[in-house]
Amino acid sequence: MSNKSLAETEYTQFRLFLEQHSGIVLGDSKQYLVRSRLAPLMGLYNLPSLSEVVKHSMKPAERQLRASVIDAMTTNETLWFRDKYPFDLLFNDLLPHYSKLGNPLKIWSAACSSGQEPYSLAMTILEYQQKKPGSLSGKASILATDLSPSMLERCKAAEYDNLALGRGLSDERKRQFFAATADGSMVINDNVKRLVNFRAHNLLESYTLLGKFDIIFCRNVLIYFAPEAKSKILRQFAAALNPKGVLFLGASESIAGLTDEFDMIRCNPGIYYQKKT
Ligand SMILES: C[S@@+](CC[C@H](N)C(=O)[O-])C[C@H]1O[C@@H](n2cnc3c(N)ncnc32)[C@H](O)[C@@H]1O
Repeated sequence: MSNKSLAETEYTQFRLFLEQHSGIVLGDSKQYLVRSRLAPLMGLYNLPSLSEVVKHSMKPAERQLRASVIDAMTTNETLWFRDKYPFDLLFNDLLPHYSKLGNPLKIWSAACSSGQEPYSLAMTILEYQQKKPGSLSGKASILATDLSPSMLERCKAAEYDNLALGRGLSDERKRQFFAATADGSMVINDNVKRLVNFRAHNLLESYTLLGKFDIIFCRNVLIYFAPEAKSKILRQFAAALNPKGVLFLGASESIAGLTDEFDMIRCNPGIYYQKKT
């Protein structure tokens, strides 16, 4: 086999492995991306080629390697209060609605990356409680999950440098919800942290142990998946939502052609999806 077709065969093997274990679909010509992301691990584990990476990652005893390879291939781009409108809709429409109902409010941030999304949700709840003292008190909680162990560690540390803090966070929110650390970063205050629980979870696996939710945020992750995986995930979201539960997707994502279990609610600006009754 020529070097070129060997490289293509190895790349195809790797793509299949990655899609099977994470749902992430790589494009035809992402060899360079794969090489650059895996180079440190290939050095560390002394794996000379992509097919060796796949071969070793598939071994049941190599769970740690498999998790690290998948972790290295995730795209973790995120920011505070991303797109603004989901958090405005939460503050202006959904929190008033759920606080009137009086039931505990459960939110799931599915694929939370380094924590900006669930912590933005927690800050929105605290701001609402400041505006309406006594509302939702002790009754709101956020479950934040991701596939990536390194992202979950960062979430739990809750410490952010200036670069991360500069993306979507107002000075007022920095003052209110963060404390400065000795090295010039900032760490989230305990009253924000207390609202969020972090847990490892792969969206391709079962959701039954996670419980039921009123609101799911799953933003900017389904874009990486094939249509069949997206449909399955959306079906599982519908099953994990309470009646009339709400789903937010990323601004460039849609459920069109994937599921008919949700109504699209158009707001100005933005949309969300509501589970059909
Ligand atoms: C681009 S970030 C989106 C973060 C955040 N939701 C936002 O919109 O800013 C995508 C995240 O999806 C996670 N991810 C990728 N595949 C996943 C899977 N199969 N299960 C759970 N999380 C996954 C990645 O680890 C990454 O942190």
